[in-house]
Amino acid sequence: MLEIKGVIFDLDGVITDTAEFHFLAWKQLGEELGIPVSREFNEHLKGISRMESLEKILESGDKASSYTMDEKLELAVRKNGYYRQLIDSIAPKDILPGVEALLQGLRQGGIRTGLASASHNAPFILDKLGLLHYFDVIVDPGKIRSGKPDPEIFQTAAKMLQLSPNTCIGIEDAAAGVEAINSAGMYSVGVGDRIILSHANYVVESLLGLRLQDLG
Ligand code: BG6
Ligand code: MG
Repeated sequence: MLEIKGVIFDLDGVITDTAEFHFLAWKQLGEELGIPVSREFNEHLKGISRMESLEKILESGDKASSYTMDEKLELAVRKNGYYRQLIDSIAPKDILPGVEALLQGLRQGGIRTGLASASHNAPFILDKLGLLHYFDVIVDPGKIRSGKPDPEIFQTAAKMLQLSPNTCIGIEDAAAGVEAINSAGMYSVGVGDRIILSHANYVVESLLGLRLQDLG
């Protein structure tokens, strides 16, 4: 068994199903720009920052050079507006199965916890879910130079927790996120599709299925 001292969580799609809301908001923006955003394409946007996601969408519609930087910033703000409407009514009932029990167990076991989400909306969402107090550290994505799949955000979380990465577990729903955890030298737990997350050390359908003693 691993010697686990810290668990570092992704937010969207792991703690609550906001991955779906990001998809719906991009889909709406895509429709306005004449660029279809399919569920399949959206898999490549999971874990990726707002501006990088926009660039990928514009590229997929062959429109990467159709907008100025100011216009792109406006499009990103517009997407965030749609997203904020969708998350406005989020509440503790929207916490995904198994998450709160896991967080409680980690607290009781003296295991430190961190959040490594690319989302600038993460503290707002954790607050609405009533989960903010379970987290010892939250990485500010605005201070991260290279987004997932780069390991920087997970390495930063471990540093903030004053833990060595090889004593930490990272939990992710996105392929890019699992890659980031692996490159950070942590043990990776994927939540979701076994094929998409086949590079994770361990995959569960939901966190209800995660028992720390099974890892390693
Ligand atoms: C990640 C999501 O957690 O955060 C991405 O998986 C999203 O889909 C990214 O684009 C940035 O989120 P936000 O809330 O800052 O636009
Ligand atoms: Mg995610």
